[in-house]
Amino acid sequence: MKASSLTSRPGGALKGRIHAPGDKSISHRALILAGLASGETRIEGLLESDDVLRTAEAMRAFGAEVERLGHGRWRGLGHGGLREPENVIDCGNSGTGARLIMGAAAGFPISATFTGDASLRRRPMRRILDPLELMGASHIGRDGGRLPLTLRGGSLKRIRYRLPMASAQVKSAVLLAGLHAEGGVEVIEPEPTRDHTERMLGAFGVEVETTDSTDGRHVRLAPGQALTGTTIKVPGDPSSAAFPLVAALITPGSQVTVEGVLLNALRIGLFKTLREMGADLSIDNVRDEGGEPVGDVTARTSSLRGVDVPAERAPSMIDEYPILAVAAAAAEGRTIIRGAAELRVKESDRIALMAAGLEASGVMVEEEPEGMIVTGTAGGNHAVRGGAQIETHGDHRVAMAHLVLGLAAQAPISVDEPEMIATSFPGFMTLMRRLGAGIEEA
Ligand code: S3P
Repeated sequence: MKASSLTSRPGGALKGRIHAPGDKSISHRALILAGLASGETRIEGLLESDDVLRTAEAMRAFGAEVERLGHGRWRGLGHGGLREPENVIDCGNSGTGARLIMGAAAGFPISATFTGDASLRRRPMRRILDPLELMGASHIGRDGGRLPLTLRGGSLKRIRYRLPMASAQVKSAVLLAGLHAEGGVEVIEPEPTRDHTERMLGAFGVEVETTDSTDGRHVRLAPGQALTGTTIKVPGDPSSAAFPLVAALITPGSQVTVEGVLLNALRIGLFKTLREMGADLSIDNVRDEGGEPVGDVTARTSSLRGVDVPAERAPSMIDEYPILAVAAAAAEGRTIIRGAAELRVKESDRIALMAAGLEASGVMVEEEPEGMIVTGTAGGNHAVRGGAQIETHGDHRVAMAHLVLGLAAQAPISVDEPEMIATSFPGFMTLMRRLGAGIEEA
């Protein structure tokens, strides 16, 4: 029977070691680049979440052979290009899947119709349609550039495109289209965002030139470069590791290690912020896995204090603000989140939903257009009141963040639509319970 809600309740300390699930961003890219390449790609550690499985299905629809060999072990066989799909491509809940696959498809003289779930159909696609149309693609769809829409690609020409917002998805969509643009492509990002597309294109044999200058980071692709199948090892997702780690920080007497966490500098803004808050976080056994730095991260219960999080850190922790808001609720003093307007167009409006959820749990929150100010309750004997039922609007990270808060609150916290957690972290319940968390289905 499908659970209609999950409830987390305050209990004992969290203890143990777990392995982080595969990184979602890297998993999507591995499947998409495997589909664009010629020859075989072997993937180890793929995140088998709902979002990523949609991308696997989509790449099959575009003509690639995509096969599961075992847990996290996948094989992709691309034919050096995408063919026109016979049916609508449903990207489910995934903005990354939709935007990157549209970018990739724009390079070919084919039409493809994309859709997604209710959340994805509300999210802005103009941000990728604008540059793709400047390159020569066209689309027909709903007002405001929302899914469903049909994209027509092919005969693309070079652009030099300055990103209007810090978005790795937009950068990646333009780069993937640029693989097939006459004259190549150049993307300029005012603030560097996650660089997994650039790194992985390198692994598939494509030369990407990245230079930093006063107006931002320039990423260039020379024309006429082909991708050749390769081997990809997917590191653990820091965005998922964040939930058990923050749970340990705010639950008395805890010590939790998450092994194999990706430590790419463009992804670890949360760890930096937590340390500024006084978190006892240690990183051991740092190693290189498939061209990315990886390590084991240990969190021990800590007395956290509120901090002012600088706006320029947003791209390196954009998915971590929901769980940061939870850490802030358990801290002493005010935490100020700035420059994070992008949170309003994620799987949900994460500023509004986190503010509402924390308030329902007795935390003082001031909602701002581009962030929020959370006044912490100081944890320990002054734990957050809790006792709330949270409407998550189908947002996996809003759900997990509130479940973590419930472990350190005075009274249980429940979340609806628990099945959505599987979009990014299908093993969340099992792993959290293994650490000793009291989370139950209803
Ligand atoms: C992602 C980029 C970010 C992030 C998303 C994954 C990616 O989105 O929020 O979860 O894999 O490129 P934006 O590009 O919209 O900032």
